[in-house]
Amino acid sequence: MVNDKKILVIGLANKYSIAASICDVLYEQGAELAFSYQNERFEKFINGFAATHGDAKTFVCDLSNDSEIKDLIKNCVENWGEIDGIVHSVGFSPADQISGNIEDCITREGFAITHDISSYSFAAVVKEAAPYMSKSSSIITLTYIGSQEATPNYNVMGMAKASLEAGVRYFSASLGSKGIRVNAVSAGPIKTLAASGIKGFKSMLNKHGKETPLGRNITAKEVGNTSAFLLSDLSSGITGQVIYVDGGYNIQAMKFD
Ligand SMILES: NC(=O)c1ccc[n+]([C@@H]2O[C@H](COP(=O)([O-])OP(=O)(O)OC[C@H]3O[C@@H](n4cnc5c(N)ncnc54)[C@H](O)[C@@H]3O)[C@@H](O)[C@H]2O)c1
Repeated sequence: MVNDKKILVIGLANKYSIAASICDVLYEQGAELAFSYQNERFEKFINGFAATHGDAKTFVCDLSNDSEIKDLIKNCVENWGEIDGIVHSVGFSPADQISGNIEDCITREGFAITHDISSYSFAAVVKEAAPYMSKSSSIITLTYIGSQEATPNYNVMGMAKASLEAGVRYFSASLGSKGIRVNAVSAGPIKTLAASGIKGFKSMLNKHGKETPLGRNITAKEVGNTSAFLLSDLSSGITGQVIYVDGGYNIQAMKFD
């Protein structure tokens, strides 16, 4: 499916990361991988993970820093020449921003940090990588339905995800003529490090599982499968989309009895 494609995966923290499941599928399907991680805190896990995924190259990159993003892409290009795919699976909001009513917790600083890491970091990576993407390449990011519908406690993250999804459409429109496709995968809730920061996440997970047309929560592996499809040439006609992997949750106005 993605045989011999050279794909950079950004956003691995531990084995529960959605990015880890995406890597599992990409590796099974024949991709050559490189990983970037936020800081030394994640180094031990990343090194072990790389060893079981084709001795993938690993690069440290804090996405709040433009020169580290520049170095990340430079390192990939030195290694590969061209890049066939990028996975951006990154989000962050200070804990006090994703807890309680929005009017009680939103601040200028919290808004700026959330949008910087959860939306601008995607734009920064695409901007830097675009000149080095191959003729039939694909970039994906991860989003959540809180961009479209008000979700308890998600607050400013929902605003940042709306911005991220708009970015997907703008980049896809301007990069399509160069053969670069840009899409987002909107995942249903999955227990991960980032998700655990959202107040009430456990009850969100339980409620969501009961209310999807499929009658269950989705798995990270299912997100990995759809991501691999979007990174492969099987999806060559798809760009600028937000593809939901949420058990169909998004199509309902209310649950049928
Ligand atoms: N878990 C869910 O329920 C869910 C649902 C829909 C969408 N998502 C999205 O999936 C993506 C991945 O999240 P996850 O749930 O796998 O959690 P995760 O905590 O495993 O991954 C988040 C990643 O973002 C990285 N990150 C944060 N700040 C960074 C920075 N300054 N520089 C570089 N990296 C940074 C972290 O190191 C981590 O690897 C996020 O965009 C998240 O919003 C998650």
